[in-house]
Amino acid sequence: MGGRGGGGSKEKRWWAVLIMLITSLALELRVQVSGAPQVPCYFIFGDSLADNGNNNHIVSLARADYKPYGIDFPEGPTGRFSNGKTNVDVIAELLGFDDYIPPYATASGGDILRGVNYASAAAGIREETGHHLGGRISFRGQVNNYKNTVSQVIDILGDEHSASNYLRKCIYSIALGSNDYLNNYFMPLLYSTDRQYTPHEFAAALIHDYSQQIKTLYDYGARKFVLTGVGPIGCSPSELAQHSADGNTCDEMINSANQMFNMKLKSLVDEFHGQMVDARFIYIDAYGIFRDIIQNASSYGFTVTNRGCCGSGKNNGQITCLPLQMPCMNRNKYAFWDAYHPTEAANIIIAKRSYRARYLSDAYPFGIEKLANI
Ligand SMILES: *[C@@H]1O[C@H](CO)[C@@H](O)[C@H](O)[C@H]1NC(C)=O
Repeated sequence: MGGRGGGGSKEKRWWAVLIMLITSLALELRVQVSGAPQVPCYFIFGDSLADNGNNNHIVSLARADYKPYGIDFPEGPTGRFSNGKTNVDVIAELLGFDDYIPPYATASGGDILRGVNYASAAAGIREETGHHLGGRISFRGQVNNYKNTVSQVIDILGDEHSASNYLRKCIYSIALGSNDYLNNYFMPLLYSTDRQYTPHEFAAALIHDYSQQIKTLYDYGARKFVLTGVGPIGCSPSELAQHSADGNTCDEMINSANQMFNMKLKSLVDEFHGQMVDARFIYIDAYGIFRDIIQNASSYGFTVTNRGCCGSGKNNGQITCLPLQMPCMNRNKYAFWDAYHPTEAANIIIAKRSYRARYLSDAYPFGIEKLANI
């Protein structure tokens, strides 16, 4: 073997270099083609609008792990409260993730490095919110679960310094508050908050609790925050069924309470920038985007905005979508899938406008795409 002389081994070395070059070029290309995500991880805090399976493991009436939920989702029913993708699924796609963010309930091992979805249906900012529906993971519970994830990230990456260096690049999306209105403040037979607080005081109390959790997330490494406001709950088929004589006119008392919360949430962006100077916050005007969808339905391809695609009773909003119930056929023409939740078609519009604002008012001071690339 040694008898082949120096010339042969030199040639071999050249081949080795060439192969290395080709391999690294191929790797580079593969990364570019599959498109590495714009951020290493995406952490999601929320309610049924974002839940993708956490409540499947909880004793609760707020579950969606049965047909026809997921009828347009490749895996069928997963616990998502829609016919297909949720808003956060679409945002994960836009951010360049090639898989959806796993639910906390089943995320394990290295999965968590892409981020975790902690959202739980019926959950609110307040602890008692949604209790009549059974188990749920409140905002505080979700933040506690996140702390547990952080210690796993530290284990995987080796030390706290590497973990915080990693986590500060990630996006933290928070969309909570709907249930504090739907399944608390505007449910006076079961909850007493409407006797304790005026709508302004209630919004302030929610924002106070919310801020505490944001500060905890910051203490545990979060630096890029998306604060999403609540939608016009007074326009949901459920509230239309209960409060709208013509079944079409939104309940503006509920909507104005929702807007008080949203205004205070938006002003947290500036307040937090003053307190946590190395963090970035953005606010998403889900309320305005959804009102636009309802008011200008035809320009978005919708023909029905006041009824659930699946459900029964007035506005298909008195009884929500039941197991094995037959939903509407033309799901892309409906803004609402059931009594409370948007269809995939509406979720896609909300997600795209959260990612890249269509109107200046959609996102303050800018959308998720820019936050990702800061
Ligand atoms: C509906 O569309 C019109 C025209 O684009 C716009 O001026 C209006 O603000 C939209 N409605 C809502 C609620 O956004």
